[in-house]
Amino acid sequence: MGGRDATMVLLDENGIRCDGRKVDEPRRIMIKAGGLKNADGSAYIEFGDNKILVGVFGPRDVHPKHMSNTDTGILRVRYHMEPFSVGERKNPAPSRREIEISKVIKEALEPAVMLEKFPRTAVDVFIEILQADGGTRCAALTAASVALADAGIPMRDMVAAIAAGKVADTVILDVNNEEDQAGQADMPIGYMPSLEKITLLQLDGVLTPEEYKKCVQVGVDGCKLVYDLQKKALNDKYFGNKGG
Ligand code: CDP
Repeated sequence: MGGRDATMVLLDENGIRCDGRKVDEPRRIMIKAGGLKNADGSAYIEFGDNKILVGVFGPRDVHPKHMSNTDTGILRVRYHMEPFSVGERKNPAPSRREIEISKVIKEALEPAVMLEKFPRTAVDVFIEILQADGGTRCAALTAASVALADAGIPMRDMVAAIAAGKVADTVILDVNNEEDQAGQADMPIGYMPSLEKITLLQLDGVLTPEEYKKCVQVGVDGCKLVYDLQKKALNDKYFGNKGG
């Protein structure tokens, strides 16, 4: 994945990051609910230069049947990167990384979805990464929540996600690809703002206990910003005039 210039200035003397943002400034985020007519629910997100499409299908019958659970519905998530989504063509076969991210996103969504209302069925979430630029798991999780809501699946809350991190010994919000490659830490966070519960927390890098607490706080505050945009996307489709 690397090949980046490790000597790149990640934070200049004015506290400005390599892409011109301030330390607590997220990238431009655009979320659209709906868009795929053959899916039960869908969403499209642009999160900086990440471009991601999500389709949700179900609740529907499970095949093979022995995979189903008589007590509850099951959630299945596939995170898939298009070969053209990254600079160096990605092999189309599922990679270890894609399998891990699929699992992480599934586990981050499960506390939000009322699967117990649909025993013996499955809800399938297909995530297509069209363009990647650091932070795809957070952007995908955010869009998947909107797509599940768009499908009318009962939910306790939506999961909003963004990464906090550390570059040049400074805690930052929303880690881009350069900062992920050359920075000191990357902490993706998924959070249910109404329930005040974290459903995803990973950490790549080293932080002091104080930095750790600050990253969680900065990340949770960032998730609240993302949450407003998720709600706006659904409002625009169901109650608004444009974008539906
Ligand atoms: O995307 P996310 O930050 O959730 O996951 P990551 O494994 O930390 O990957 C960081 C970034 O590396 C991705 O967003 C892509 O931009 C890039 N990447 C790549 O260039 N080639 C790959 N085969 C996988 C990831």
